[in-house]
This record gives sequence, structure tokens and C-alpha cells, in this order.
Amino acid sequence: MDESSCDVMAMTVPRFVACKAEGRRLVMLTAYDALWAGLFDESGVDALLVGDTLGMVVQGHDTTLPVTLDEMIYHARMVVRGSRRALVVVDMPFMTFQVGPEQAIANAGRILKETGASAVKLEGGEYQAETIRALSRADIPVMAHVGMKPQSIRMLGGMSRIQRDAERLRIDARAAEEAGAFAVVLELIPRGIAEEITGELSIPTIGIGAGPGCDGQVLVNQDMLGLGNGFNPKFLKRYAELRSTVLEAVSNYAEDVRGGSFPGEEHSHE
Ligand code: KIV
Repeated sequence: MDESSCDVMAMTVPRFVACKAEGRRLVMLTAYDALWAGLFDESGVDALLVGDTLGMVVQGHDTTLPVTLDEMIYHARMVVRGSRRALVVVDMPFMTFQVGPEQAIANAGRILKETGASAVKLEGGEYQAETIRALSRADIPVMAHVGMKPQSIRMLGGMSRIQRDAERLRIDARAAEEAGAFAVVLELIPRGIAEEITGELSIPTIGIGAGPGCDGQVLVNQDMLGLGNGFNPKFLKRYAELRSTVLEAVSNYAEDVRGGSFPGEEHSHE
């Protein structure tokens, strides 16, 4: 099999990038532990993102801001252990790279050394170009993230703000590529702008709320599996309704235990 092909067993950063030229769309999903990472990997996703969304969907915070580097490392280790083929990318949480390139190299270095993941993701384009360049020169692959940046929530005043400044978005995406990013997430931007940026860049664009014109797609797994509680933005497609499945299963279990029908004879040892 051709070494550059994206259909090979283990996904690497160069293969991930080559998928764009090969016209193969990239599938990415968040994962935060070994169980789900294993399931998603077995389902054939190309990349697993240990997103700092874990602050919200796993830890129960209102924003991603409280997540620490140690927590990301803890979850990323589980995801790496659970996956075989997918590229594992780990988010750099708030204030673990914004201080500057030296801080970013030290922290991203810890992520790669202590987890076995292949790459980091950081929020930013032009304003983080120096840091993206420094990380790339230190052989730390970087996925950039432009458009709506959840770590900027205090400046934005809210999470679901569609970013419509086409020039700013283009400048950010181009700056990320020029600085050495191997891919860029485009979050919550109009589809036309996402399509234009995707056409201009030679690295893959991974959309979330950015329409069908990107080179790939990422979703938060709890959202697409229908585990969330009422989060239903326009860009989301739910592929399962696991929340109602879990609620039904657990209330059936509770009813059986309370009513004395479980455990029964068939579940008992002599
Ligand atoms: O943290 C995360 O899960 C993300 C995705 C929503 C792209 O950044």
C-alpha cells in the first residue's frame, strides 16, 4: 500500500495531511476515555480529539476555562490506550500556551511525552502564529483552531457566536498554515467563508458548524450520540438518542431491583 495513503492502518500527521490531496474527507470525533476511544477507533474515525470540552461534557463546568494541563494529560493517556489506528490530538487548555512560545513548548512537550498522543490543538490563528511556529520547529505537530474559540468566551460574551468577519478568518487560517500548522479547525463560521478558506489552504480544514465545504468534520461525541441535555444547535446532526436509551435502561433496572425481580434465580449461584 502507498505510504502516503490515508487508508493505512495507523493514522499519522503526514497521512492525515495527505488525505486532502487524495480528496478523502477526514472524520474526527472527541474522546475522553479508553472505552469510547476504543469504540470510535473501531468504527474507523481518522482522528480522536481529546478536547478541552471535557470541562463541560465530562466535568460539568459551564465553560472550558477551568480545565488544567494535568487533567488533559490524564484523559489523553486513556484515549491513547483505547485507540489503535486513529490520530490522537490533544487540546491545550486555557492559559497553557497564551503566555508565549516557551510556555507552549514546555506544556505541549509534556502532552506528547506523557500521553503518547501525536499532536496538540490550540485555539488561535494570526495572534498565535509565533507559538505555532515555535512548536512546529520543536517537532510538535499543531492543529490550529479559528473562528469561534470557546476559550475566548469572556471576550465574546457567549459560546455560540457565529464568526462572520471573512477577512479576519482568512488571515487567521493563512497565518496558521504559514506558521506550520498541519490542519486547522474552523468553528461556527458561514459555509461560504469556510469553503473559500478550504480552497486557499493546502492543509486540511476540519469544520464544526462550518458547512459541507471543509476537508473534514469534528463533533463532540456526546452531542452526536444524543447524550446531551437539550444542546441542539443548527450544525448538529444526532446519530443516536443514547440519553433516552440510558434513562430507560436505568429506570427499568431500578424498577426490577425495587420490585424484587432482579436478581432472579438465573442470576444466582448455588
Ligand atoms: O474542545 C473541543 O472539543 C473542540 C471541538 C469542539 C473542536 O475544540
